[in-house]
Amino acid sequence: MKIFGHRGAAGLVAENTLESIAEALLYPIDGIEIDVHLCKSGELVVIHDETLDRTTNGKGNVSDYTIRELKKFSSEEGFKIPTLEEVLHLIDARCNLNIELKGKNTAIPMVKLVEEYIHKTHWEYNHFIISSFDHPQLFEIKETNSKFKIGVLTEENITAVLPVAKELDAFSIHPPITTLTNDEVTLAQEKGLRVYVWTVNTENLIKQSKKWNVDVVITDFPNFV
Ligand code: G3P
Ligand code: CA
Repeated sequence: MKIFGHRGAAGLVAENTLESIAEALLYPIDGIEIDVHLCKSGELVVIHDETLDRTTNGKGNVSDYTIRELKKFSSEEGFKIPTLEEVLHLIDARCNLNIELKGKNTAIPMVKLVEEYIHKTHWEYNHFIISSFDHPQLFEIKETNSKFKIGVLTEENITAVLPVAKELDAFSIHPPITTLTNDEVTLAQEKGLRVYVWTVNTENLIKQSKKWNVDVVITDFPNFV
């Protein structure tokens, strides 16, 4: 079973920051999960919410600010909002990267940026898994560049999204730990799909996931493993 740090290492250092990602890289992880939104000047920025309010000292919508303006805001600890480009640079293909397309219209800018990195650095398609609850954005990726591995995110159980996963020719299904059953893990895997479960934050749930043959657990606490 593989371990991915959630929003970097969100349980240890402020989520979706370069500092949180650097913390996650201190542990023997296989990958990191991050959330992206598009800002006013066109860059992809790494932040979970549509607004700045919960995680920074800024206010309002991320999409109303340019990257220069966003860089003036910080978390309580003084950590800045990173761009996806800064994250690619920091990780430098040392582990896999699960990019969650959280904001609208992020699919095509993500494809363009990552293609460029794959072309000019040692990042490879195989390092990436692109997931979203916004399934139409996943179809956009499939139509633009079918080399990207697609992960179908769901708040429901695996069964609910098997049809869309099939249509997308997805690599994986990403259900919450709260809806997971051993039978559903088996069902997905019999159909050739990997199972990435979030957010698995106790040692007991990590053990149970392993027993159920889950492929990847996404955790706020990569230090548990
Ligand atoms: O990608 C798994 C998980 O991150 C989805 O939920 O709200 O933490 O982005 P959320
Ligand atoms: Ca996420």
